[in-house]
Amino acid sequence: MTAVRLREVTVRYERLVALDKLDLTLDEGQCLGIVGPNGSGKSTLLKTVAGLVTPVSGIVEVFGVPPRRLEPGTIAYVPQVEAVEWNFPASVADVVAMGRFPRMHPLSRFSRRDRQAVDSALEALRLGDLRNRTIANLSGGQQQRTFVARAIAQEPRLLLLDEPTTGVDAATEDALLELVRGLVKQGLPVLMTTHDLDRAADWFDRLMVVDRRVLANGDPETVLASGAYAGIREHSHVHGHARTEPGTVP
Ligand SMILES: Nc1ncnc2c1ncn2[C@@H]1O[C@H](COP(=O)(O)OP(=O)(O)OP(=O)(O)O)[C@@H](O)[C@H]1O
Ligand SMILES: [Mg+2]
Repeated sequence: MTAVRLREVTVRYERLVALDKLDLTLDEGQCLGIVGPNGSGKSTLLKTVAGLVTPVSGIVEVFGVPPRRLEPGTIAYVPQVEAVEWNFPASVADVVAMGRFPRMHPLSRFSRRDRQAVDSALEALRLGDLRNRTIANLSGGQQQRTFVARAIAQEPRLLLLDEPTTGVDAATEDALLELVRGLVKQGLPVLMTTHDLDRAADWFDRLMVVDRRVLANGDPETVLASGAYAGIREHSHVHGHARTEPGTVP
């Protein structure tokens, strides 16, 4: 089944065209990687799929409907780490537990099932020892793992990851890779941006090179060999973004 379908999607920020008639298809059980230079619209693309950004034209469908019409909790979106600011005193376990909120009734208590989902997400991201630490005092990589754990605890039908490997060490990247590949194998569709071309063939079933438009799309090794990404590696660097709260997603 098709999880995500974008047809001729154009997104503008006032005068700036961030996405220009972009097409994309993502099937269930598939991990699609998005690469492109800084400012090429990768984060905008994920926000559009999450329903946080509305295109000026084109069609966005997630499981056949516009993202805002989905049941709460259907999509988990992990923003780029430098776009997140946590200055309130929430613990790691609190943040991961928030992954359960979209599907809970407003006044209901945490069930055993909810606690199990939180514990297994903490374990999967190797956060057990950090569970009572305040999120604001963690390293970027530890915060990133916490946000991924929150997304996993949500048990979403679609997972959107914006540069989850930026600023994490090799062991964490390997753990993340294993976790995501395991979820994909179970049928979860995953859309992920990255700057790491070296590992693209390990992570992705399909790779798209984007610069407001789609420059290449296909098997990762073929896309990398095609040279469609030429210059990206040289020109890429991570830079700061406007700080925003992580969005609440349908
Ligand atoms: N909220 C916003 N308002 C105005 N312009 C924006 C906004 N968000 C992004 N932009 C601009 O839109 C373009 C695409 O930004 P986007 O963050 O999607 O790129 P990106 O590919 O994710 O970049 P990076 O590799 O640095 O993360 C950039 O020129 C950016 O400055
Ligand atoms: Mg980005």
